[in-house]
Amino acid sequence: MAARRVFVDTSGATCPTKGGAQLFEALRASVARRGLQGVSVVARGCFGLCRLAPNLYVEPDGVWYSRVTIDDVEEIVEEHLIHGRTIPRLIRYQPPSTSTKETS
Ligand code: FES
Repeated sequence: MAARRVFVDTSGATCPTKGGAQLFEALRASVARRGLQGVSVVARGCFGLCRLAPNLYVEPDGVWYSRVTIDDVEEIVEEHLIHGRTIPRLIRYQPPSTSTKETS
């Protein structure tokens, strides 16, 4: 499994009001509970995608997940972090380098 870092906005102006800190804690707990090697969950500030809050970013895959809820956490861990499969329904932003299309 490739090493991954999951950045979660826990200190921007909007994401924390939409559950960003809870997402961070739930992701960390799930990764620890499963004993995933090479995966770290990192708290950070605003990504500049506030209208899609709460947001997280998975590196090095370049995948943004937006409007994530606590109920999505286990799916993100299972599908993306363990099996390497992205979750299209949570992708609402793609950076201009890969696409100019926003899906919502
Ligand atoms: S507050 Fe999270 S993207 Fe701006």
